[in-house]
Amino acid sequence: MRAYDLIKKKRDGAELSKEELSFLITEYLSGKIPDYQMSSFLMAVYFRGMTDAETITLTELMLSSGNRFDFSDISIPKVDKHSTGGVGDKTSIILAPLMAAMNIKVPMIAGRGLGHTGGTIDKLESIPGFRTDLTMQEFKNNIKDIGFSIISQSDEIAPADKKLYSLRDVTATVESIPLIAASIMSKKLAEGIGGLVLDVKAGKGAFMKNISDARNLARTMVNIGNSMGVKTIAVITDMNQPLGKTVGNGLEIKECISALRGKMSDDLKEVVLTLGSWMVYAADCVTEEVAISRLSEHVLIKYKAELMDFIEKGDAFKKFVEFVDAQYGDPEVAFKPNMIPAATRVKEIRIPDKGYIQEMDAEKVGTASMLLGAGRRQAEDRIDHSAGIVLNKKTGDYTTPDEPVAMFHYNDETHINEAEKVFLSGIQAGQIPPDKRPIIIDVVI
Ligand code: URA
Repeated sequence: MRAYDLIKKKRDGAELSKEELSFLITEYLSGKIPDYQMSSFLMAVYFRGMTDAETITLTELMLSSGNRFDFSDISIPKVDKHSTGGVGDKTSIILAPLMAAMNIKVPMIAGRGLGHTGGTIDKLESIPGFRTDLTMQEFKNNIKDIGFSIISQSDEIAPADKKLYSLRDVTATVESIPLIAASIMSKKLAEGIGGLVLDVKAGKGAFMKNISDARNLARTMVNIGNSMGVKTIAVITDMNQPLGKTVGNGLEIKECISALRGKMSDDLKEVVLTLGSWMVYAADCVTEEVAISRLSEHVLIKYKAELMDFIEKGDAFKKFVEFVDAQYGDPEVAFKPNMIPAATRVKEIRIPDKGYIQEMDAEKVGTASMLLGAGRRQAEDRIDHSAGIVLNKKTGDYTTPDEPVAMFHYNDETHINEAEKVFLSGIQAGQIPPDKRPIIIDVVI
């Protein structure tokens, strides 16, 4: 077999067999296929796509390039949640302790932020002392003792995805539905879970800019999960504007602590309770071995009330404290969030017009936050955990030039003017309130 022939075959739109895909992945991982040939293959996939069978095979190959966790000694259902990436998206840090409080185990492997999107691992690392590079044994112990753990992807988990993702990142081949689906699912399936809830973001701040692409990605990932024995549900949620009131790592952890104490903005609450309801439902289905079907509105409301109860009783907050302690962070942070380092400078951002905010472009807010130091342009960049943006106003709110719509938190002023320009270019005010967009767009089962 030759890589050249397989690139040509995909370029011409044909389906590759299991043996052919296996040849490409194994030879690339061992260094026998060079980056330039693999880049060319990835670009062919970008334009030609993959069949369902090819996408499932690619996922299996990337998954089996590394280790899989075995939690068969834990009889309690293991469920995870994963987001395709957004701005201000902090739901994992609220949902994992909430599930643990309800006796559902969450073994979560999370990612770092890149470009305008944030990552759970960066957010957690803003807690003094916190570590996400636990050993497999520490990860397992935390899941047994606390009910959840959140770690970063190590070299042992889906190494083929790690190598391919770095290449995709520099060859403009990230935004491909089969490649994103196989990449995310290969890591999630390594967790040894029985159920998975995917938050597929759609809109300006997401990889999938329109709902039809988001549905396609959701359907592809749900097929992969179910075909590999993991009960998988995808919830499509709006990412046209940032989620919640903060963007930036330390600021978002403070917002999570408030949320775990019962104080959440309406949009964040809706996403947390909807995803949480589906996680509970997936866990029940795993336990009882019944098929997942669409939750009726009535049952969904009942689940949401139950989840809110676990937050209000303080059980989810207690789990968060135990988790911070077990991952070498200072648990006092949960009681005194001001212990999270703050930026030395704060700038009020106003818009010149008065009226209702028509839109707040999530990609532009995320880019502005990155320019303040909260994110990376390139994978190797260092980030400033205290930098970011607090949003005083969101889409639909009335504003005047006297009121700041946002506060920029930063230490380094190098890109402050550019950040302000980008941020303001994503906001418009008008005299008529905009139509309210639903935050939960659809559920794919
Ligand atoms: N997140 C991943 O892990 N992989 C992708 O391809 C895109 C987002």
